[in-house]
Amino acid sequence: PFVVTENCIKCKYTDCVEVCPVDCFHEGPNFLVIDPEECIDCTLCEPECPISAIYPEDDVPAGQEAFIQLNADLSQLWPVLTERKDAPEDAKEWEGKPDKLKLLER
Ligand code: SF4
Ligand code: F3S
Repeated sequence: PFVVTENCIKCKYTDCVEVCPVDCFHEGPNFLVIDPEECIDCTLCEPECPISAIYPEDDVPAGQEAFIQLNADLSQLWPVLTERKDAPEDAKEWEGKPDKLKLLER
């Protein structure tokens, strides 16, 4: 499956959700995750993210391996999102910022 990683936190642009043919994106307060049980590896979402936060599970950046389990766990708790919505007003300021995991809201 594909995995949403750290750069999405507090950016949450949601361009990714509209292309998913199996509606497997789930939305939390300031982050989105992919349900690994539903993802069919179609690859469509990966290029949609303007800040390249989506990776195949086998290619998650070093140090971000925890996001594999986070996607699996949080997708069970959060509701599905299928339509694009406005990003947070300060999304731009958070692009590429390090150490955003501690800011993840559940
Ligand atoms: Fe959905 Fe395809 Fe992305 Fe998986 S790879 S989350 S199926 S768009
Ligand atoms: Fe996040 Fe990128 Fe989608 S910022 S919500 S993975 S478009």
